[in-house]
Amino acid sequence: MSMKKCQIDVVIVGSCNMDLISYVSRFPKPGETIHGKRFCTGFGGKGANQCVMASRLGAKTAMVGKVGDDSYGRDTIMNFKENNVVTDFLNTTKESSTGVAPILVDDSGQNSIVIVSGANFQITPVDVQQALSQMESPKVLVCQLEILQETVLAALKEARALGITTILNPAPGVPGLPDEFYQYSDFFCPNETETELLTGLSVSCVEEAKKASLVLLDKGCKTAIITMGGEGAVYATAEARTPLHVPVDAVTPVDTTGAGDAFIGSLAFYLANHSSLELGEMIKRSCEIASTSVLSPGTQTSFPWKQSLHPHLL
Ligand SMILES: Nc1ncnc2c1ncn2[C@@H]1O[C@H](COP(=O)(O)OP(=O)(O)OP(=O)(O)O)[C@@H](O)[C@H]1O
Ligand SMILES: *[C@@H]1O[C@H](CO)[C@@H](O)[C@H](O)[C@H]1NC(C)=O
Ligand SMILES: *[C@@H]1O[C@H](CO)[C@@H](O)[C@H](O)[C@H]1NC(C)=O
Ligand SMILES: *[C@@H]1O[C@H](CO)[C@@H](O)[C@H](O)[C@H]1NC(C)=O
Repeated sequence: MSMKKCQIDVVIVGSCNMDLISYVSRFPKPGETIHGKRFCTGFGGKGANQCVMASRLGAKTAMVGKVGDDSYGRDTIMNFKENNVVTDFLNTTKESSTGVAPILVDDSGQNSIVIVSGANFQITPVDVQQALSQMESPKVLVCQLEILQETVLAALKEARALGITTILNPAPGVPGLPDEFYQYSDFFCPNETETELLTGLSVSCVEEAKKASLVLLDKGCKTAIITMGGEGAVYATAEARTPLHVPVDAVTPVDTTGAGDAFIGSLAFYLANHSSLELGEMIKRSCEIASTSVLSPGTQTSFPWKQSLHPHLL
C-alpha cells in the first residue's frame, strides 16, 4: 500500500504556547491578590511563531508538535490554519495541557513569565521520524530548545540523514549544550544573550560577536548567525571562517517581542524558496523583515504577510 506523501518545504519541530498576558501596576507579593488592569491572550511558543512567519512569506510550512485536548489547543490549531500552516503533524494529546505562558507586565514595561510546557514535552523522537517519513522531500527543518533536547537532537539527525537543511535556534540558551547539537546544525542561530551562555564570552558589540561566531563554528556547526537587535546580525561559515556583519536600518522599536522568531522564520523561507540567493543577502532580507516586526505590538500580530512587503524582498 502506498501512501501519498505531503508536499512540504519548511518543517518546524517545536513549541506551541498560549501567552496569557495580564497588565498590572506592580507585581504582587507572595500571598497577595491584586487587580490587573487589562488582559489579553496571544499565540506564542518559539516554534509556532517561526512557523507562522515562514508561512506568511509563502513557504509551504508544516508544524510538528503537540497541544492538549483543551480550548487553547483547538484555538492553536485554528490559528495555524488561518496562517496556511499544514497541521497534519500537530497532534492532540490527552496526557498534558496545551503549553501556556502566564505573563505579568507592570507599568514600567518589566515582565515576569512562567512557562508551563505541558504537551510540548510529549513530542518524542518517534513522532518526528513518523512525521518526516510522510513528507515529500522537505527542504528545511527548524528547531528551538523549548521541547525535549533528545527530540531536538533526533530531529536534526533525521533531517541530516534525509539531506534536509537544518536550522537550530538554541533558545532559550543553555550553558554546556552538547557539541552534537552544533554538528547536526547547518545553521546555528542564537541571539547575543544565548551566545554568551553558550560560549562564556561577552557579546555586547559587533567585534565581540565576530569572535564568538568563530567559537560557535569550532563546536561544529556549518554556519553561525548571531542576531544583534538593532545592530542586525553577524555570521560566519566554516568554509570561509571570516565573520561578516550585516547591518540593518535601526528603527525605534514599539515591541521587540518575537523579532528573533521573525528572523528565523524568514531565514527558513529564503533557504527553502530562494535557495540560489547569496547567504549574506538572505540574512540581510531576514533582518529587514524582522525589523518591520518590532514596529507594531504583539508577537505573531506584528509579523508581516508577503502581500505587505516590498517586492524586492520576495
Ligand atoms: N531596534 C531594532 N531595529 C531594527 N531591527 C531590529 C531591532 N530589534 C530587532 N531587530 C531585528 O530583529 C532581529 C532579531 O532581533 P534580536 O537579535 O533582538 O532577537 P531576539 O533577541 O531573539 O528577539 P526577542 O526580542 O524576540 O527576544 C535583528 O537581527 C534585527 O534584524
Ligand atoms: C515557495 O515555493 C512553493 C513551491 O514549493 C510555491 O508554491 C510558492 O509559491 C513559493 N512562494 C514564494 C513566495 O516564492
Ligand atoms: C501523531 O499521532 C500519530 C497517530 O497516533 C502518531 O503516529 C504520530 O507519531 C504522532 N505525531 C506527533 C507529531 O505527535
Ligand atoms: C535573547 O533571547 C532570549 C530568549 O531565549 C531572551 O530572553 C533575551 O532577552 C534575548 N536577548 C536579547 C539581547 O534580546
